[in-house]
Amino acid sequence: MDYLQIEGGHRLEGVVEAGGSKNSGLILMLCSLLTDEPVVLNRLPRLRDVTTMKDLLVSFGGAFEDLGSHKIKLQLSELKSVEADYDLVRTMRASITCLGPLLAREGKAKVSLPGGCAIGNRPVDIHLDGMRQLGAEIHLREGYIFAEVKSSLKGAKIILPFPSVGATENLMMAATLAEGETILKNCALEPEIVDIANMLNKMGAKIKGAGSKEIRISGVHNLCGVEYDVMFDRIETATLLLAGPMTGGSVRVEKCRRNEIGAVCNIFESCGISIKSGDDWVEASAGIDFKPVDIVTEPFPGCPTDVQAQLMAFLCQVPGGSTIDERIFENRFMHVPELSRMGAEIYVKGSKAEICGRKSPFHGVKVMATDLRASASLVLAGLSAKGATTIRRIYHLDRGYEQIETKLAKIGAKIQRLSPGP
Ligand code: UD1
Repeated sequence: MDYLQIEGGHRLEGVVEAGGSKNSGLILMLCSLLTDEPVVLNRLPRLRDVTTMKDLLVSFGGAFEDLGSHKIKLQLSELKSVEADYDLVRTMRASITCLGPLLAREGKAKVSLPGGCAIGNRPVDIHLDGMRQLGAEIHLREGYIFAEVKSSLKGAKIILPFPSVGATENLMMAATLAEGETILKNCALEPEIVDIANMLNKMGAKIKGAGSKEIRISGVHNLCGVEYDVMFDRIETATLLLAGPMTGGSVRVEKCRRNEIGAVCNIFESCGISIKSGDDWVEASAGIDFKPVDIVTEPFPGCPTDVQAQLMAFLCQVPGGSTIDERIFENRFMHVPELSRMGAEIYVKGSKAEICGRKSPFHGVKVMATDLRASASLVLAGLSAKGATTIRRIYHLDRGYEQIETKLAKIGAKIQRLSPGP
């Protein structure tokens, strides 16, 4: 298994380009289930999760073509299977989101329950309740969701008990081909929802209000093929930006927008990081002094849970006491023991972490990545550490960051991906 070797203490300075969004791209791939015509996606990142999603779609009978330069073509002319196997779903939770499009297209689906995952319990009740309200009959048996619709899905008024990102996406996709109008209330507001609605509308769907709490979808008979550019990855952008101030330097990320990462930029600024932005770039530079902050993770437009681990690595080197309250997922502090081994002082009580920050706390040691965003926090800590850091189990990192070492090396990091000898 590959590992990363980082020689810390080098100032990062320069310009990098944001990749396409993993979280949006995966669902846009699933949208290809809603049409028998080709779906071409541009700026789709090359990630392990994207390969898993491709495998899932191929298992349904899809044809996949890699057109190079982050462009792919998917076509599901006809479905040979409507079963999403445990081995595919367990490695990537977004697979559960195939339930809606499969029900809309074929009227039936058998999807493995994702089970627990490293960052918590992650139930799917909101997805299932919503599908039932659209007319699906759902049974849980032997770890699988068996779903079926008698004739076709029927539009309904559905109030989500929590603005779940996955459930909003799943129900929005299902409703595009349902009979009549669906009104989704208390929807997730994440920019990825808007991106997905934009592509579906380009395919002929009738979706209004994406990005607001109420989404209205008028069902249509069929959707057509499309070519679409995936939006930028908000989380990769935030991670790259932090790498600048973390090392006393300055990083400009191009092909992204401040608007979609407003909460993160505001937090950066309240920590003393200087932020500049233009139409399609954001730059973060170390200010004169860093200041401690109290952070709460929340649904968009609040601070994303996916940036919590990276912010924690940063706050470890901000003198004074900061706190992070993780309100989205329980058990999402698995980076804490590893950051502590690198010299951080962090105390966790329930959903809250208290960070006793000080200047230059990190020293290089051997650490292990435990989940996707936790890995990113270890990379950031390694960049600012004294000495050499070795990060193992970087297959977690590869789920969500495309060649982060290449992007970081371009702006001055001494970082290498190595394979263990035979
Ligand atoms: C979540 C994040 C999303 C992030 C993604 C990948 C939020 C609100 N969502 O999306 O920004 O990109 O992880 O890391 O920050 N829940 C239920 N029942 C359900 C579905 C969800 O109880 O059926 C709960 C979850 O346990 C969790 C919360 O709702 O506490 C948020 O879940 P949801 O937004 O659905 O998670 P993801 O779609 O995975």
